[in-house]
Amino acid sequence: MAPLYIFLSFVLGMSAALPHDMTEKMLVFSQESNTAHVRLTTSRQNLGPVTVCVRYFTELTRFFTIFSLATPSLDNAVALYRHPGSSEVELGVRNLHTKFKGLEFKLNRWQSVCATWDAASGLVQVWLDGKPSTMKFLTNSNITGPIIIVLGQDQDSFGGGFDIKQSFVGMMTDVHMWDYVLSPLHIDNYSQRFNFPAGNILNWRSIEFQVTGRILVQKEQHQN
Ligand SMILES: *[C@@H]1O[C@H](CO)[C@@H](O)[C@H](O)[C@H]1NC(C)=O
Ligand SMILES: *[C@@H]1O[C@H](CO)[C@@H](O)[C@H](O)[C@H]1NC(C)=O
Repeated sequence: MAPLYIFLSFVLGMSAALPHDMTEKMLVFSQESNTAHVRLTTSRQNLGPVTVCVRYFTELTRFFTIFSLATPSLDNAVALYRHPGSSEVELGVRNLHTKFKGLEFKLNRWQSVCATWDAASGLVQVWLDGKPSTMKFLTNSNITGPIIIVLGQDQDSFGGGFDIKQSFVGMMTDVHMWDYVLSPLHIDNYSQRFNFPAGNILNWRSIEFQVTGRILVQKEQHQN
């Protein structure tokens, strides 16, 4: 089974969908396109509360997508975007969107962004470089169905419907997702690269993914 699988992966030119330890590594989204993306694997089919954290570095000054989680019925089940020009972070949960203002965009700097959704209260919040936004209500219904998670593109349909004008170009690292609202202390630690509990939905230290297009795994560069 394993040798055949590795053989087929080699022949088909796919990165094997086995967990990779991406500690100290980053993904380089090296060309603007409407096809290049990374698909992250999860077997979860029911999401209540979640936290997503991503660290990114880019020279994009247009709108771009940070994280895109879709189900067959919800293309923006959990979606995170950046509006560099207006210092806003946009969060979508169950296709309902809100923009958080006053979250300064930094060109060619590593920035960390975490989004939390407390499904019980329906409250959402984002944290940029460890600093909180206002809390707002979005929705208090769970997300159900098979899930596709994409980095580098925004899904306008389940696993596809990409738009080059919403694509990501740059570097990303430390992608984690938890099935609970991470505490402010842990979010602060995440932003400073200190200790925090690894994600239990997505864990950068053991993550399954498939790459389409010219996205390269490189050693992480730490300067801020
Ligand atoms: C929502 O999801 C959470 C976590 O998966 C689960 O514990 C809870 O029972 C779900 N609620 C409903 C109404 O399905
Ligand atoms: C934050 O990181 C520091 C340094 O690694 C650690 O001592 C501390 O326990 C962490 N805080 C939490 C809440 O885990």
